[in-house]
Amino acid sequence: MPTVDPVAVTVSIVLALIIGYILLSKPPTRAAPKRAGSPPPAPKEAPTKSKLLSQPSGAAVAAQMSVMSAPAADLAPPKSTPISVAELAQCDGKDASKPIWVAIKGKVYDVTNKREMYGPGAGYNVFAGKDASRGLGMSSLDPKDAVSDYSTLNEAQMKTLDQWDSFFAKRYNIVGKVVP
Ligand code: HEM
Repeated sequence: MPTVDPVAVTVSIVLALIIGYILLSKPPTRAAPKRAGSPPPAPKEAPTKSKLLSQPSGAAVAAQMSVMSAPAADLAPPKSTPISVAELAQCDGKDASKPIWVAIKGKVYDVTNKREMYGPGAGYNVFAGKDASRGLGMSSLDPKDAVSDYSTLNEAQMKTLDQWDSFFAKRYNIVGKVVP
């Protein structure tokens, strides 16, 4: 019969208690805390119109998105080809043989490679085929705001618009400028 060392037994019990305590007191995994006003988690795929419109379209969302780092694209030198409003309207994605254009402050950006975002039925189609500067500045997806006159924007909205402009300038080619 082996002798039981009382010290070893005590140490084992104490160790078991410590390990048990550590395991049991481990906090349950919690979802990341929600900060008030923070945007909902970005969907993996392009957001659909219904998804976007069911969410609060707060300025925080657009502010956050407008400063997101746009990957530097291989861009052609900006063109100043005059583009009429009617010509711009043709490039709203409905005709798949035509490019998709979005104009900001008169500059026409070619967003054709993001058809899944700007094409018909997509969340940002409201900006396609027009100069939607006011809507971008207002962080609004409402078609009635998607107009070129941005003179009514306040300072913060003007800043948001400029952030969108530089966001687009980093990733899309400028194919011309809108002429009346
Ligand atoms: C809860 C609401 C919203 C969510 C979850 C959301 C989500 C997103 C996501 C995930 C992207 C793609 C980012 C990337 O490609 O790096 C994006 C881009 C964009 N969002 Fe939103 N958005 C929301 C509301 C809005 C609103 C209100 C506007 C109105 C101005 C807006 C305008 C844009 C624009 C212009 C882009 C750039 C698309 C591109 O050319 O890549 N979004 N958004």
